[in-house]
Amino acid sequence: MIYSDHAATSFPKPPGVARAMNRHLDLLAVNPGRSGFDLALEAAAEVDRLRADLGRFFGNPAADPDRTVFTLNATSALNLAIGGLCRPGDHVVTTVLEHNSVLRPLHMLARTGLITFDLVPCDAAGFVDPAAVEARMSPQTRLVILNHASNVLGTIQPAAEVGEACRRRGITFLLDAAQTAGVLPVDMAALNVDALAFTGHKGLQGPTGTGGLVLGPGCEPRATVFGGTGVRSAEPAQPDLLPYRLEAGTQNAVGLAGLAAGLAWVIERGQETILAHERRLTRRFVAGCRGLPGVTVHGHQAGTEERHLAVVSVTLEGMDPEKAGMFLDQDAEIAVRTGLQCAPLAHEALGTAPEGTIRFSFGPGNTIEEIDAALAALAALAGRAEADQDRAE
Ligand SMILES: Cc1ncc(COP(=O)(O)O)c(C=O)c1O
Repeated sequence: MIYSDHAATSFPKPPGVARAMNRHLDLLAVNPGRSGFDLALEAAAEVDRLRADLGRFFGNPAADPDRTVFTLNATSALNLAIGGLCRPGDHVVTTVLEHNSVLRPLHMLARTGLITFDLVPCDAAGFVDPAAVEARMSPQTRLVILNHASNVLGTIQPAAEVGEACRRRGITFLLDAAQTAGVLPVDMAALNVDALAFTGHKGLQGPTGTGGLVLGPGCEPRATVFGGTGVRSAEPAQPDLLPYRLEAGTQNAVGLAGLAAGLAWVIERGQETILAHERRLTRRFVAGCRGLPGVTVHGHQAGTEERHLAVVSVTLEGMDPEKAGMFLDQDAEIAVRTGLQCAPLAHEALGTAPEGTIRFSFGPGNTIEEIDAALAALAALAGRAEADQDRAE
C-alpha cells in the first residue's frame, strides 16, 4: 500500500514507538502520579520528562513543565482551551480554514448565547490576511484562534503577524498546531502564542490517543473536566495547581511513552530534514498533477512552496472525490482522504463544497517512486473519468 494520509495520522510509526510502548507495558504500566511506590514515581517522572521536552520543543517561554497539559488529541486540547478561556459575553476571532474541532465548540458556545465569533475569510489560494484578522478584533475579543496550517491545502498561515497583533491588544492567541507540530518548527515565544494545541499522532509520530495544550505565561484556562488527580483528594473542588487542574483522570501513559519515542525520532532526524524531504515529494507531485488533463490542483501556486506543507488537494473532472478515493484504494492500493476533511468552510471558500477533494498528504517514509505511482494512478483515473463522461454524452 502507498500511504498518503499523513495529515490524518502518520503511518507507519518509527519502530522505536512500538518498542517504547511495549517496554512501558512490560515494566512500568502502573498508574503514574497516583501512588507513592517507586514504580509509580518512576512512571510519573517519565510523563513529567515528556512535559519538559515538549515545552522546550515548542519554545514555551514559561519554561515550566507543568504548563504542558496532556489530552487525548488536538480536539480535546482545543475544546479545553476554548471552553476554559471563554467567558460569557466574550468575542472570538477565527478563520474559515479551521477544523471542526474549533468550529464546533465555538458554534456550541455561540448557540447557547455565551459568546459571539467572527470568521475571517481566506484568499483563493487558501491564505488568511493577518490584517483582516486584526480588523475583526474588538474590545470584547478574548481569544483569537488560528489553524497554523490548513489540513485541506497545506497552506501555512501568518502566525507570527497574528500573534504580534494579539500581543499588542492583550488578546489571548490560541494556535492549532495539529498539522505543523513535528514538521515545521513552532516557537511559541517567536510567534507570541499563549496556548498551543498539538496532537501526538501526526507529525510527532506518536500513537493515537496523545496530544496536549502548552500554556504560555499567564494563560490560565479553567477546568472543563473534573475528577481525580491524586493530589488534595479531600477537597471538593478541582485543585487549582497545574497540570492537575486540567488533567482529571488517569493519563494515557502507554501512549505518552510512544509519543516520547516519536518526539525523540523527530528531533534526531531534524524537522528541517523531514520538511525538505516532504517538500521534494510535494514539488514532484504538484508538477506531475499539473500535466494531467482533467486534474485540478487546489492552491500550491508556483513560488509558494515555502508556504505549504506536504498536503495537496486535487479534484478530477467528471468524478466524485469519494469514488476516486475508492478506485485509488482498490485499483492502486493508494490510501488518501476524500471529502471535506472536517473543514467544511475551507471547502466553501475554495468552491469545492459539498463533495470536497481528494487529499494526498505525504510523510517521512514516502518515496519519489511512490509519488510517480500515485501520478500514474491519477492519470489512469482521469482517463477513466473522461471515458465515463464520453459515454454519458
Ligand atoms: C488542523 C487540525 N486541527 C485539529 C485536528 C484534530 O486533531 P485530532 O485528530 O488529534 O483530534 C486536525 C486533525 O485532522 C487538524 O488537521
